Amino acid sequence: MIYSSFPKNSFQKNKKQILKLVEKVLDSGNYINGNCLKNFENNFAKYIGSKYALGVGNSTDALLLSLKAVGVKENDEVLVPSHTAPATVISILNCKAKPIFIDVNLDDYNIDYNLIEKNITKNTKCLVIVHLYGQAANLNQILKISKKFNLKVIEDVSQSCGALYNKKKLGSFSDIGCFSFFPTKNLSTIGDSGAIVSNNKNYINKIKMLREYGWDANRNCQFVGINSRLDEVHAEILNYRLKNLDNENRERIKIAKYYLKNVKNSKIILPRVFPERKHIFHLFVVRVKNRNKFIKDLQNEGFKLGIHYERPVHKHAIFKGKKFKKLENTEKISNQVVSLPIYIGLNKKIMSKLVNILNSI
Ligand SMILES: Cc1ncc(COP(=O)(O)O)c(C=O)c1O
Repeated sequence: MIYSSFPKNSFQKNKKQILKLVEKVLDSGNYINGNCLKNFENNFAKYIGSKYALGVGNSTDALLLSLKAVGVKENDEVLVPSHTAPATVISILNCKAKPIFIDVNLDDYNIDYNLIEKNITKNTKCLVIVHLYGQAANLNQILKISKKFNLKVIEDVSQSCGALYNKKKLGSFSDIGCFSFFPTKNLSTIGDSGAIVSNNKNYINKIKMLREYGWDANRNCQFVGINSRLDEVHAEILNYRLKNLDNENRERIKIAKYYLKNVKNSKIILPRVFPERKHIFHLFVVRVKNRNKFIKDLQNEGFKLGIHYERPVHKHAIFKGKKFKKLENTEKISNQVVSLPIYIGLNKKIMSKLVNILNSI
């Protein structure tokens, strides 16, 4: 069976090297908060083009810590799309803040900047931009609005590590950028981990404490924090894999170009790419009207396709009984999106077989 993503290929290709790195950490006797983490934080900040980076346990924590660092408190309103991974919104709820859902547009499936201003109230504290599927949201327009209203902005870059907007890396445009290195992500390791980047030393100092109980350099707890550390093994694997991230992103873009060129079926809506943005295709998401049949037909041909996302976050059980404004595009596309296979090592023969099936469907 061929899946939408298959991280094992990329790790298997580097198995010898990864095992050596694990052995190196094992022999060092230093497993938490050591040099591997420091190196990764330095290298990652440089790669993104931000002054600082901090490793954390995962991106859900990265988002939570960032919201707390910019000062989001109980009952504050946070603007966020509902067409995203639940984690983006769960972090807001864990701050006891109120997510205000904004619809997405049909061009890039990211937050619709036209709808932001009309959802701003005196309680609005922060805007969370999600760069979904590997492509930037319309940062030019969005940042104009956030500046005008003095909103804090956090970028959820969990799906877009290495993607560009006007030649600048995502994550470096806002107060804080949050990343996931979950195994399926473009930059990944064989477990959970994540990072934040920022140019603001105050945010960095606060998150440094918050990620470790809330204590300071004297181990004196100044805040109620959490425990969300990026350990030495994962930091060392990420250090190694970061060097190859641009190559791996190029491989994804090549696969995407093949689909974009060869899928010719008016019933399948292909993703759009924009000249000012470099899409790094964490996912290759198409839209079809009769999704159940489409998925079943492809499963019969050996392709098990994913859906990102079938249930918009505002439709999850945690919001049962709550009334939200209608999110027309979000609800429409949640019934239509399907993720085609895109991963390191996906071979031409499989891609060509898939294209033939798609063109005859
Ligand atoms: C857009 C987005 N935000 C947040 C997350 C959460 O990442 P993690 O699993 O590292 O907590 C994910 C992961 O799926 C994601 O895709």
